[in-house]
Amino acid sequence: MDIQFEGKRVLVTGAARGIGRAICEAFAADGAAVLATDVNEAELQRLADETRPARGGSISTACLDVTDEAQITQLIATEDAKGGFDIFVHVAGGVLGQTKKPVEDVPAADWDSIYDVNVRGAFMVARAVVPAMKKRRAGKLVFISSGAGIGVSLTGIQAYASAKAALISLARQLGHELGPFGINVNAVAPGFLRTSPDYERQWASYGDEGQQAMIDEIPLRRIGRPEDISNAVLFLASPFASWITGQTLSVSGGPVA
Ligand SMILES: NC(=O)c1ccc[n+]([C@@H]2O[C@H](COP(=O)([O-])OP(=O)(O)OC[C@H]3O[C@@H](n4cnc5c(N)ncnc54)[C@H](O)[C@@H]3O)[C@@H](O)[C@H]2O)c1
Repeated sequence: MDIQFEGKRVLVTGAARGIGRAICEAFAADGAAVLATDVNEAELQRLADETRPARGGSISTACLDVTDEAQITQLIATEDAKGGFDIFVHVAGGVLGQTKKPVEDVPAADWDSIYDVNVRGAFMVARAVVPAMKKRRAGKLVFISSGAGIGVSLTGIQAYASAKAALISLARQLGHELGPFGINVNAVAPGFLRTSPDYERQWASYGDEGQQAMIDEIPLRRIGRPEDISNAVLFLASPFASWITGQTLSVSGGPVA
């Protein structure tokens, strides 16, 4: 299977580091013109400086806060004038520095901020990119959900588990709605990866024994790497997945008992 994205324009949110960065690098290495967006401008610049695109691919960057409707509208209008996007990958999300609290102690603002980035952000950007895709009767949307949305979240953060489950439902619903327009919508649900300070803190909290126990529970006996996730995303965004929509692909080293 030789997956190529020459001539394809890809928008990635939450692109600055970890999973988002790996997705941008993989698309650019396979020929795509990638617009990498995030709120973290310093890391975005590092991505642009360090990535080595191939097959005619490229990476450009833009600051985009997915909770800001005006920013989204402006960016997509500018990009639509150049032809719009073929592929949109929503990676922005995570736990935003939050840690586990008993449900009765969770401030509503904490709940809202996780929903705003993980779920509302996916909806807002999808809403903006879909009209150009509908006109071309082709497009691919991929949302990064989580094992937390399928089972119980290791983070213990109620809003995170719930938001990632909502993304699975959003992919299913939009897959159903947009299929007649030639647009595929799917989600990828990663298992645990040590990608960012939030996940490093979580990993450290397990201690040596807890870390080994976690690895021992994973059927394929290792935690994830960013390229495990980018491989799945590129497949779902490729013509090889043209008859798959509304689905969630678990990329986690296998089901845990
Ligand atoms: N690392 C894991 O174990 C794991 C597992 C399952 C799912 N995920 C999901 O994968 C995605 C990427 O996570 P990651 O592991 O690479 O690290 P991460 O959680 O640090 O990545 C999130 C990215 O989103 C960006 N972001 C935050 N708020 C934003 C906003 N308002 N607008 C735009 N961008 C914003 C951050 O700057 C960061 O680059 C997240 O959605 C996360 O929930 C991660």
